[in-house]
Amino acid sequence: MRFTFWLLAFVALAQDNKPQEVEKLAPYYPTPETIVQKMLQLGELKPGEKMFDLGSGDGRIVIMAAEKFRANAVGVEWDKELYKQSTDKIQSLRLQKTAKIINGDIMQQDFSSADMITVYLLPNSNDKLRPILEKQLKKGTRIVSHDFAFKDWKPEKEETIDDDGEGRSHTLYLYRR
Ligand SMILES: C[S@@+](CC[C@H](N)C(=O)[O-])C[C@H]1O[C@@H](n2cnc3c(N)ncnc32)[C@H](O)[C@@H]1O
Repeated sequence: MRFTFWLLAFVALAQDNKPQEVEKLAPYYPTPETIVQKMLQLGELKPGEKMFDLGSGDGRIVIMAAEKFRANAVGVEWDKELYKQSTDKIQSLRLQKTAKIINGDIMQQDFSSADMITVYLLPNSNDKLRPILEKQLKKGTRIVSHDFAFKDWKPEKEETIDDDGEGRSHTLYLYRR
């Protein structure tokens, strides 16, 4: 539910009053697996394509992209615990050749090789990210955003899932550069 996401964001960002190098663009709030699959389907991810999940949490999007869609998948996650948890899972599933997590800041990466991008961040974080993606992404790259649209971009498709089985509704936005 979007309200829970906002509440978590408020608490996490309010507690986070230490100066730090990495700006926290959203709290950790995972996408349900059924919605992960819909995001990757909406973005028409194909075998061998390069995808990035920006703020990869426990790695579920990267793992499904590599395991089910046979993509070359990369996550970016600044939180050390989540980085370790997702990297351990990738190793235990023997997906190291096609899935990896960068322990770093989304704002400092090069996404120019991406065929597809997934994001689940806050609206003002999408605003900060937009010029970076506009500058870096090659023509035709698909971006799928969970719940929050990118201002000034016109979605090619919008899909709402009224109930994910746990009473939560989700909206997905597909953009093409
Ligand atoms: C809402 S969660 C989404 C997790 C995952 N993409 C999913 O959909 O299940 C956002 C994630 O972004 C990470 N994050 C926030 N700011 C970041 C930054 N500047 N660089 C890298 N990761 C960041 C958080 O730690 C969190 O795991």
